[in-house]
Amino acid sequence: MDRNLALELIRVTEAAALSCGRWVGKGNKMAADEAATEAMRRTLESLDITGTVVIGEGEMDEAPMLYIGEKVGRGNGQEVDIAVDPLEGTNICAKGMNGSIATIALAPRGGFLHAPDMYMEKIAVGPAAKGVIDINASPTDNLKKIAQAKSCYVEDLTVVILDRPRHDKAVVEIRKAGARIHLISDGDVAPAIAAAVEGSGVDMLFGIGGAPEGVLAASALKCMGGDMQGRLVFMSNEERDRARSMGITDFEKVYHCDDMASGDVVFAATGVTNGDLLQGVRYYSGGAETHSVVMRSKSRTIRFINARHTFDYKPIY
Ligand code: FBP
Repeated sequence: MDRNLALELIRVTEAAALSCGRWVGKGNKMAADEAATEAMRRTLESLDITGTVVIGEGEMDEAPMLYIGEKVGRGNGQEVDIAVDPLEGTNICAKGMNGSIATIALAPRGGFLHAPDMYMEKIAVGPAAKGVIDINASPTDNLKKIAQAKSCYVEDLTVVILDRPRHDKAVVEIRKAGARIHLISDGDVAPAIAAAVEGSGVDMLFGIGGAPEGVLAASALKCMGGDMQGRLVFMSNEERDRARSMGITDFEKVYHCDDMASGDVVFAATGVTNGDLLQGVRYYSGGAETHSVVMRSKSRTIRFINARHTFDYKPIY
């Protein structure tokens, strides 16, 4: 993977964030998502890659852009697979709440798990707790292991969980174990990554969220030396058929980071609204500031980039 591609990817997520940033708090999640998707599609067009979207905005018949199977890039460079979520956390963006990001990951052809648009059980931690998590163990056992690995008390740990009734039992157990909980309304990619950032205040992401989002989080955690396990959650036979048609045969399989994102992976994200990981887009007279992160699994370099964009020279925004 050309290492300069990593920096090019920042332009792609910045463009998406700058475009949907105008929709923050406007109560229109569709318009915000469309703005991000259109900007991401447009900027991807300028990259010297032969890209195929494998995690995208939906199937060809349900998404006009960045649909699964769509070819992107100039078509003159390395063959890569692309996982995108132009606006991860559409509701939080529409409500102006914390935690929405624009995100993308690249892997060599065949490098990503073709995750169907369904749920996945997830557990994600940073490098300090790598190798100690077990999705088959109880939340309490995982917390004890993580605390031991981090040389702290369970009471010192903060777990991020989507605020959903399906997590009620786990929330009770985690509270009983003594850990602190940060319930979020949406957007579980950024907190999974934050678990791998020293000082972010997040130690673990736990619970059931989207499977495509799981692949994006796994791509980032692979680049950061963190750890993640995921298992698909089937709600119907239709979902099983769908998974089968995408090549998934073992429905109980526990996916590790390398199963979800393999080879030389590059990940980038830009904050849309403020969050544990990134600051949101800040507009001012004549421009805006963005906060992004970009990383490569090959070098494990993690770059946080603040950029100031001057709209007179970028009239598109
Ligand atoms: P969108 O950006 O597509 O709205 O997804 C947001 C999200 O909160 C993900 O971060 C999470 O994985 C998933 O939705 C959870 O799904 P649900 O809202 O059905 O619990």
